[in-house]
Amino acid sequence: MYLAFMSYPYQITSYSRYREEYARSEQDPEAFWEDIASHFIWRRKWDRVLDWNFHEPHVKWFLGGRLNITENCLDRHLREKGDTPAIIWEPNNPEEFSRELTYRELFDQVNRFCHVLVRNGVKKGDRVCIYMGMTPELAIAVLACARAGAIHSVIFGGFSAQSIADRIQDAGAEYVITSDGAYRGGKDIPLKQVMDDALGGCPGVKRVIVAMRTRTPVSMMKGRDVWWEDEVAAVDAIAPGNFEAVEMDSEDPLFILYTSGSTGKPKGVVHTHGGYMVYTHYTFINVFQYQPGEIHYCTADIGWITGHSYVLYGPLSAGATTLMFEGIPTWPDAGRFWQIIERHRVHILYTAPTAIRSLMSFGTGPFEGRDLSSLRVLGTVGEPINEEAWHWYHQHAGGGRCPVVDTWWQTETGGVMISNLAGVTPQKPAYATLPLPGVHPLLVDESGKEITGNGVSGNLCIRHPWPSMIRTTYGDHERCRQNYFSTYPLLYFTGDGALRDGEGYYRITGRVDDVLNVSGHRIGTAEVENAINMHTGVVESAVVGYPHDIKGQGIYAFVLFSGHHGSDEELTRRDILQTVARVIGPIAKPDKIQFVTGLPKTRSGKIMRRILRKIAEGEREQFGDTTTLLDPGVVGEIASGKI
Ligand code: WT7
Repeated sequence: MYLAFMSYPYQITSYSRYREEYARSEQDPEAFWEDIASHFIWRRKWDRVLDWNFHEPHVKWFLGGRLNITENCLDRHLREKGDTPAIIWEPNNPEEFSRELTYRELFDQVNRFCHVLVRNGVKKGDRVCIYMGMTPELAIAVLACARAGAIHSVIFGGFSAQSIADRIQDAGAEYVITSDGAYRGGKDIPLKQVMDDALGGCPGVKRVIVAMRTRTPVSMMKGRDVWWEDEVAAVDAIAPGNFEAVEMDSEDPLFILYTSGSTGKPKGVVHTHGGYMVYTHYTFINVFQYQPGEIHYCTADIGWITGHSYVLYGPLSAGATTLMFEGIPTWPDAGRFWQIIERHRVHILYTAPTAIRSLMSFGTGPFEGRDLSSLRVLGTVGEPINEEAWHWYHQHAGGGRCPVVDTWWQTETGGVMISNLAGVTPQKPAYATLPLPGVHPLLVDESGKEITGNGVSGNLCIRHPWPSMIRTTYGDHERCRQNYFSTYPLLYFTGDGALRDGEGYYRITGRVDDVLNVSGHRIGTAEVENAINMHTGVVESAVVGYPHDIKGQGIYAFVLFSGHHGSDEELTRRDILQTVARVIGPIAKPDKIQFVTGLPKTRSGKIMRRILRKIAEGEREQFGDTTTLLDPGVVGEIASGKI
């Protein structure tokens, strides 16, 4: 047992060690990260650790280094962990058998699929769009792209055809990997059918590889679509042997992941092989205090950054066993997480506050008769966790014994930035607490002036680069500058507000921009407005968030509609929801739609969202200063309007 503790020399195992490491990372960040990076397999060592400026921005880590992240996730574990499970897969249906892939098996499958990719024309630097359910094939597809030097862009299975088409086109992807369908709870999602609708608008796509899962009828276009299984069989028939990982530069892109911002169009966040590998590994080991042999269960879909970093790359680079679950927490019943934990003897559970709150609403019945004694660490991510949910999680899932890590980070940061380290640094309900070594957060006021001292709040920025920070927004570097580096010159701006308590612990209070966080999913208000405005008869709309018991934030849309409601306003509401589901996906459907006759606008035509947010929160009288409004009367009208 003691030896196990020694396997990650850079694992921080005491609070004083955390203090030391943090101080070291502040004094000499480059020496600090160089030290961590030296524990990986590099084909060629870097010439220089870091080159950066936040003007352009320009950030490069481990310059001149050559590697392939998958050699660190697969090859290097073969000798000692060849027979250790890399992935445990739990199917949607608990009656179906689960699957285990050892490191050797995963290595094999990834190698075979690399041959499939190359045989279908995929070359280094090509973009490959992946749209699949949570099956081992998704993990294999992602890793095979990385190994073959292609840039993967995974799209969450809940996005619509239109959203997929936008992303495929923005990335210039010529290759697609999907499956016939996916099982999620009681639903079968016809992924290939949705993809076919998307591909109608993507003439640039040359090849679609389709894995079989639900065996729903699908159309397979001759010359474009091929079956995964046939392709693998064709490769096996030639028995080409292992696929030598393509040597990449540290700064070569590993993946693009689209995320919402305050404008209508999602942006493609780019991460690279070297820095992303070092940072996701380091944070995985330290935040969760992973011990060799443990089973790590992160419930996120690989379509989100959490899935990339803590279902796949972080755990696999550490030689960990990662559990992948195909389904949802409430199917066939609200005890599914607990059943999985008991069945596989899970040690670490990493999930989202929204899942916790939704399970809370079912009471503690689902825990009855479940043995959760294997659990050692609990984690949350994606949105602020309220104290009540924190305590419930701590007490009922963790039996009061397991530390809870509240991990704050973003798609753009690649890995956890502010979090307690399980059982090592202090925890405080609803607080992400302290930054990881190498992370230098600060709070600023509206004018960009730093707010020092403790017991203060402001906008959260980061001062110095860390290895897995966003490099660019794909195809539009200026947008990256504008979004993250121009609000406060020479700082990375997170878009979040935060407070720092008397002890210096951070609590993230939520977005300060026009981005919503609905069930831990980021959705831009402008994106939802654009979608609503596409509906015939809609003149204008304004979307704001409001507190929602389970989702954290709900979506509230004020809609100016000039079309015919027909006989029924309710039908129009449903039509609008349908339009949003078509344009973005079901995850962006407003929870509430209120029809209005006007929106509160300033004389310059800007919608005063502050007022709409108040109304959405239930305020009926106190709206603050409304004198700058073109027509202040509209406020009372909206406030007394029905929904
Ligand atoms: C936004 C990033 C990174 C994982 C999943 C979401 C919010 C994330 C926390 C937390 C409070 C949090 C922030 C952030 N957020 N984690 N522990 N406490 N807020 O990734 O879609 O890029 O969203 O999620 O507002 O900016 P994402």
